[in-house]
Amino acid sequence: MKLFPAFHDLAGKTVVIVGSGEVASRKGRLVAAAGARLVFAGAGLDRDLVEEWRDRAEFDARALSAKIFEGAALAFICVDDEGEAARLARAARAAGAAVNVVDRPDLSDFITPSIIDRGDVVVAVSTGGAAPVLGRRLREKIEALLPKRLTALAAFAKSFRSAVASRLPVARRRAFWESFFDGPIAHRILSGDESGAREAMIEAINHPLSDQAVGVVHIVGAGPGDPDLLTLKALRLLQSADVILYDRLVSDGILDLARRDALRLYVGKARSGHAVPQAEIEQRLIEHARLGRIVVRLKGGDPFVFGRGGEEVDAVRAAGVPVFVTPGVTAATGCAAAAGVPLTHRGVSQAVTFVTGHAKGNGEPELDWRSLATLGHTLVVYMGVAKADVIARRLIENGRAKSTPVAVIENGATDRQKVLKGALTDLGSIVRAGDIKGPALLIIGEVAAKANSETLADFARIERLAA
Ligand SMILES: C[S@@+](CC[C@H](N)C(=O)[O-])C[C@H]1O[C@@H](n2cnc3c(N)ncnc32)[C@H](O)[C@@H]1O
Repeated sequence: MKLFPAFHDLAGKTVVIVGSGEVASRKGRLVAAAGARLVFAGAGLDRDLVEEWRDRAEFDARALSAKIFEGAALAFICVDDEGEAARLARAARAAGAAVNVVDRPDLSDFITPSIIDRGDVVVAVSTGGAAPVLGRRLREKIEALLPKRLTALAAFAKSFRSAVASRLPVARRRAFWESFFDGPIAHRILSGDESGAREAMIEAINHPLSDQAVGVVHIVGAGPGDPDLLTLKALRLLQSADVILYDRLVSDGILDLARRDALRLYVGKARSGHAVPQAEIEQRLIEHARLGRIVVRLKGGDPFVFGRGGEEVDAVRAAGVPVFVTPGVTAATGCAAAAGVPLTHRGVSQAVTFVTGHAKGNGEPELDWRSLATLGHTLVVYMGVAKADVIARRLIENGRAKSTPVAVIENGATDRQKVLKGALTDLGSIVRAGDIKGPALLIIGEVAAKANSETLADFARIERLAA
């Protein structure tokens, strides 16, 4: 380690910044966030800087001498002239201030790291002055991993510090806090349920040995398959889950991102077509949470779009277990983006409707065909492959042109994506001739003509060439 990191208490202390322009302002923003008294020094400070700091800093227009540094804890020297910078650095040091000369680590007592500021939680990244841009990039990566509500979590922990200290003997405190930060109460704070977390915390402090600790269930959307389409929040939850119950549509690439020692339970359809009944899935979520675990229910796409997420939320909530929902990219938007189909497009399509093509047995989907057949309207059908013929027939009967463009997207947004396009009247044959079996979406409407794909004839030709 070249430089030793230490955090400086600047509350009420004086920081002198010599120089002007954006660099000086930026340094000002850093130290102002720590409660310092700020003085910008030098004649001819630029107008923007004075405007920005008018009511929050002082300005010292005296000639630059050792005097302006008297009483300063830190001094930032933001001047271009090297000789002048060295002279000012000496003067500031002689006045007792620690000095930073911008872009000159060799003239500085300290350097400013890249900072992630979450209230009491601060992460500082330094490359010892070797590569500030690398430092900034690392900061961006770390920033993406840290939940936005970390500030609230730290404030919550602070508010309970003395209560924990008075209730628990020293030997048990550390373990208590370890399990707090890994556990369901912290998850509730990070999910925005502070009052629930407060109640649970009081219970945990009053009954620290209780085995009644209730965990938490997160119902999480995994998107259409590409791990890059996971939300940052979904990724964080996967990495902290004790138990993950997942569906058939969740790809291996996504499961690979989960915590190594998490218990993974498959609850999707088996090869036999037999699926774990919904009531049993709900029961398992509740049982695992009642063991004090962080449970992630991982579902393809978005849990609230044809995902039965609402039923799971109701069941878990009715059992008195806290439950939160993290959205995911639904198949319609994920597949449309992957195939180059804008679901609405100015002058072409003014509305989009998501429907399910699912129907009981040999029946047909119960849909309002007349309104779905409106021109200038995109229709996205989930689970519609088996009913492609009847869907096309009903739309045509209700006024949609036979030539309306359609796109069939199988395994969209994955490396097995297949996209076929053609006319509405051929929808059933496209599905059959394209041998569409996997999860697939039907997109019906003028925008489907934009799909980056082969027509059925092209597709057959390509298949023949590949064979
Ligand atoms: C039970 S629904 C679940 C939908 C999911 N909750 C969502 O928001 O995407 C399953 C249907 O979603 C569609 N689907 C899901 N993932 C897909 C993908 N990667 N490519 C094409 N269709 C997909 C298919 O129509 C599939 O039959």
